[in-house]
Amino acid sequence: MTRGKSGGSQPPGASYLKEKAVRAGYIAVIVVGALMASTALADGASLFKERTCWSCHGKDGKHPLIPDYPRIAGQGAAYAERQMLDIKSGARSNGNSAAMKGVMVIVTDEEIKLLAQYVSTLDP
Ligand code: HEC
Repeated sequence: MTRGKSGGSQPPGASYLKEKAVRAGYIAVIVVGALMASTALADGASLFKERTCWSCHGKDGKHPLIPDYPRIAGQGAAYAERQMLDIKSGARSNGNSAAMKGVMVIVTDEEIKLLAQYVSTLDP
């Protein structure tokens, strides 16, 4: 029994299809990469809008949706960052933390830093 030069049983055109699939994969990676880069470049102000922070804390960070949600405008950046990280990890867990924790799954630690910096610049 003799084998073809390629040694395999690939039908003709298979390598072309494979190449096409690989190329599609590259394109997907580039698109995802671009999306991630745009998020990484996003500033705290746009994150505050995009990640729905305003819906509970108010557009200005000082008119919360309900009275027992905190006013966050003007909080120290380091403090706000620490609270968000602790709520995200579960280290801070009290009666209202669950509402905030649900949102912490859609922000990265880097975004939390940007958000904390933004919150600290808001007029208290
Ligand atoms: C579903 C409502 C909701 C959304 C959306 C939300 N938060 Fe919160 N947030 C809360 C609640 C409630 C608390 C208080 C949690 C607790 O008591 O542990 C809180 C706490 C905080 C704190 C700590 C305040 C303090 O005084 O310790 C910061 C900072 C904060 N949120 C920022 C944000 C940012 C930034 C976003 C957007 C990524 C966001 N929150 C989205 C409800 C929300």
